[in-house]
Amino acid sequence: MKRIIIQFGGTGDLAVKKLYPAYEHLMSVGFEFTVVALGRRFKDRQEFIKEMVRPDASKQFLANMQYLYYDMADEEEAPLSLIRHLNNLIKDSEQVELIYYMALQPSLYEQAIEQIQQVDMSLSCQCGLLKKIIVEKPFGFDLESAQRYNEVLLQAFSDKEIYRVDHYLGKEFMQNLLILRFHNDIIRSIWDNRSIESIQIVFDETHGVDQRLGFYEKIGVVRDTIQNHIMQIITYLTMNEPAALSPEDIAVEKVKVLRAIEPITEFYTGRYESVGATSGHVVDTPTYAAFKLAVNTYSFAGVPIYVRTGKMQQEAKSFIYVKFRNKTQQVMHDNSIAENGVIITIHPELTIDITMNLKQPESSWQSKPVRFRFNQAETFGANTPEAYEQIVKKILQGDKSLFPTMREISEAWKIVTPMLVHDRHMEVYPIRTLPKFAVDITQSDGFSWFDLQP
Ligand code: BG6
Repeated sequence: MKRIIIQFGGTGDLAVKKLYPAYEHLMSVGFEFTVVALGRRFKDRQEFIKEMVRPDASKQFLANMQYLYYDMADEEEAPLSLIRHLNNLIKDSEQVELIYYMALQPSLYEQAIEQIQQVDMSLSCQCGLLKKIIVEKPFGFDLESAQRYNEVLLQAFSDKEIYRVDHYLGKEFMQNLLILRFHNDIIRSIWDNRSIESIQIVFDETHGVDQRLGFYEKIGVVRDTIQNHIMQIITYLTMNEPAALSPEDIAVEKVKVLRAIEPITEFYTGRYESVGATSGHVVDTPTYAAFKLAVNTYSFAGVPIYVRTGKMQQEAKSFIYVKFRNKTQQVMHDNSIAENGVIITIHPELTIDITMNLKQPESSWQSKPVRFRFNQAETFGANTPEAYEQIVKKILQGDKSLFPTMREISEAWKIVTPMLVHDRHMEVYPIRTLPKFAVDITQSDGFSWFDLQP
């Protein structure tokens, strides 16, 4: 079968930084497909290859990488040029699969889908024609637009053919969360509000919006990472055990969590101060957020989940801290005894720590917290595939296990809606500093952000 990926946004940041390296590697391990990159930045393939593809890219990748000048605003000529290009590519094939990959900003979705429909109806080949459409996050701009896009998509594709991407589901740590929780009896029995006191999710990034300003400006942190990545992490952390670790069963449990999330009332957003000459621009959209959330299920009611996430921080740090109740202090009449915790670190390295108290040598019944550590690279080698490689592989294989359903996406939009429509003051924070609201939220609630390196 001949497979063709039609890459909308073919000269964009996502395609160049994440997708092309994933395509190249998948080709090197035996996956066969051709890529047609669509863009209007370069007039022809030669220029595209020179500017967008690494000079040491493999011959195989180069041979399968095509470019088509495509100006979506030219509604007449653009689809016609794609029809001509594809007809030429598929004319001698018996069976063809077209994979339309939309790495575009949500505001362009409707137009792109209309053009895809037009292309789809006009292809002429005697072959069996299969198709898939891949849509990047954020899926929509809010609940209403997400549902509208979905209806438009369903006019041309069946739900089975639609892959809604959240690349966090392709990450090893996410899949490991489910294994940690559902393949371990000792964890299962402590993973609820009887033992867990609170959860923290910290995703601090050092970079700004850089070359993605045009995209990010319209999106902001809530649409960029909270509606999708953070909500998915919360479902993985708090869902009940699925009947099996199958995509359908997992999706059922995830939706239950999303529907049990109480309306968020405590949240704050800020944007980083313009950095002038070094990166140029003022970002007029939230780039950092901190909030508190509650999942009202029998298992998690009463466990506050604190989240902070955003850009231009001092240190790149992503981790989840699960803090256990500390009854021991009371029982042992000793306030120096530390709590137990599970620390799932994604950045700087993939590790899982369990903290326990053991005897401090040369002391008299004094304990000291120590960490029992699993390190992904040391145990399984450093070659954990990139999230996007996992995602693209599943798309090629027609396996929908790493893609959120429309139901999940709609529920997640409902949860973040208050964060989108608020008219509160957006704090301007100096770069490399934690916004004041992220510090204040701890004081008002009497907790402190966990320190990865105490
Ligand atoms: C993307 C966001 O989806 O995820 C980016 O658009 C963010 O703003 C990125 O930096 C984080 O992903 P990762 O894989 O680098 O953790």
